[in-house]
Amino acid sequence: MKELDELLQQAETGIQQAADLRGLDHYRVLYLGKKGQLTEYLKNLGHLPEKERPLAGQKVNIIKQKIQTLIDERVTILREAEVVNQLAADSVDITLPGRHQQVGTIHPVTKTRERLEALFTQMGFAAVDGPEVEDDYHNFAALNIPDLHPARAMQDTFYFGDGTLLRTHMSPVQIRVMEESKPPIRIIAMGRVYRRDFDLTHTPMFHQIEGLMVDENVSFADLKGVLINFLQAFFEAPVPIRFRPSYFPFTEPSAEVDIGCLSCASKGCRICKNTGWLEVLGCGMVHPNVLSMAGIDSERYTGWAFGLGIDRLTMLRYGITDLRALFENDLRFLKQF
Ligand code: FA5
Ligand code: MG
Repeated sequence: MKELDELLQQAETGIQQAADLRGLDHYRVLYLGKKGQLTEYLKNLGHLPEKERPLAGQKVNIIKQKIQTLIDERVTILREAEVVNQLAADSVDITLPGRHQQVGTIHPVTKTRERLEALFTQMGFAAVDGPEVEDDYHNFAALNIPDLHPARAMQDTFYFGDGTLLRTHMSPVQIRVMEESKPPIRIIAMGRVYRRDFDLTHTPMFHQIEGLMVDENVSFADLKGVLINFLQAFFEAPVPIRFRPSYFPFTEPSAEVDIGCLSCASKGCRICKNTGWLEVLGCGMVHPNVLSMAGIDSERYTGWAFGLGIDRLTMLRYGITDLRALFENDLRFLKQF
């Protein structure tokens, strides 16, 4: 009997000190489990003299009951503590600043496109579109670049293998317009073009604007006039401009246009490779072969065309030195414009 009272006391202390539900379960097993101490007492009742058995049995059962009650009470307390702890850990600090939605900005290339469209529509050009996935005919053959012509190597092309490709320039749009309409034609076309190119001033996807004018008596003087007016309006300054003889299979004669380097005021720097000049576009009088292939009478009509890199123009206008920055989608960069 004395042993049983001591056991109850030990159990009471242990249970009160159990810090969590797992610790508490240890005491349940120790006293009430299949091999627990009280269970052992019950099993050994048979060894007692017969008249002592009922009293001892009663006592063991009472103590068993008490320990069970102590455990149940402790379980309730520990469960409550657990909930309180969890609530404290999950609590929301309502004094913290909220998460804001970031406001976007217009991409610098888009800004340039909008400016280009405004400037050329003022001069009476209509903006048109064409497909980014082109066929070989419109991207090359119709532009006087037949199969195996060395000029195909001027533009490293992404081919799909079924006669289609990612357009390498915006010039195929000229062809589509001439096929579908009659002179007078005055259009611009802007969009994405693709080439296998990647360095400081070349990216595999970039943007071009193509311009085309076809009518009777259209001359190289018209081309020069439009381009000089356009470039000075675009840069809002009398930038130096030079026309340099060049070659494109689809124009004859052909020229490339350079502007004085804006970052060194034509003194020579890394950007202009110490020449003081930056190439911004290619242009020329539309080759008679190109006119007739597109169904336009090349005896009666003449025309000119130009093609210009929109990304390069954006770099010049905003003083960006690495073209690739335009396509990395770094908000810290894009938000500066
Ligand atoms: C052409 O693409 C001709 N279609 C332009 C043309 C149109 C000439 C009509 C005559 C008549 P070119 O490959 O030089 O030409 O490219 C024109 C411009 O695109 C270049 O001056 C340059 O500004 C830009 N450019 C070319 N390659 C890249 C590139 N990988 N990344 C960024 N800009 C580029
Ligand atoms: Mg070129």
